[in-house]
Amino acid sequence: MTGRFDLRLLYSREDIAAVVRALAKRIAADYAGKDLLVVGVLKGAVIFLADLIRELTIPVEIDFIGLSSYGDGVTSCGEVEVTAFPAAPIEGRHVLVVEDIVDTGLCLDALLKFLAARSPASVRVCALMVKPARHRVGVEIAYAGFAIPDKFVVGYGLDFAQRYRHLPQIYTLEEAPVEGQLASND
Ligand code: XMP
Ligand code: MG
Repeated sequence: MTGRFDLRLLYSREDIAAVVRALAKRIAADYAGKDLLVVGVLKGAVIFLADLIRELTIPVEIDFIGLSSYGDGVTSCGEVEVTAFPAAPIEGRHVLVVEDIVDTGLCLDALLKFLAARSPASVRVCALMVKPARHRVGVEIAYAGFAIPDKFVVGYGLDFAQRYRHLPQIYTLEEAPVEGQLASND
């Protein structure tokens, strides 16, 4: 992507809150009475995780994992590397991975392999957004929020070149029309 961008609202605060509440309700029911470790994927999932755990009615431990991924661009991670390791023990725990968005699934696939090698009792994934049209590897998302079109999205933790994470709503990043071509659509 080059040039200028416009932000177009995709999901409002209310849309997001409703989906977060619904996901939290299912998670709380499924993990009631279990020792649950919630692992957020840095940095995009931080805001989602913060809202999600406050809607959970069960106690949880939280931790984070960092993956090398997009850098400043918009294409998917090819080679995936763990850049920040969770401090919490994984072995024998029920682990819930919290992701902002699953695009091709390559990042998640690498993350699931990393976790599986540490012998958890179980691993499931909760993703606020999934882009079904772009999935390239078969990763199961037990708790999926919004299924979105193949668009680049920002806000609510998600960035473009580290910008827009602070926005409380979710927007698609649209290429701004080039001046002089505005009236030449038809
Ligand atoms: P893959 O392709 O491995 O990518 O599923 C997952 C990671 O890529 C980032 N990603 C995005 N970030 N807007 C963003 O701000 C997007 O539309 C988008 N699509 C993918 C994100 O970090 C995710 O964890
Ligand atoms: Mg991410």
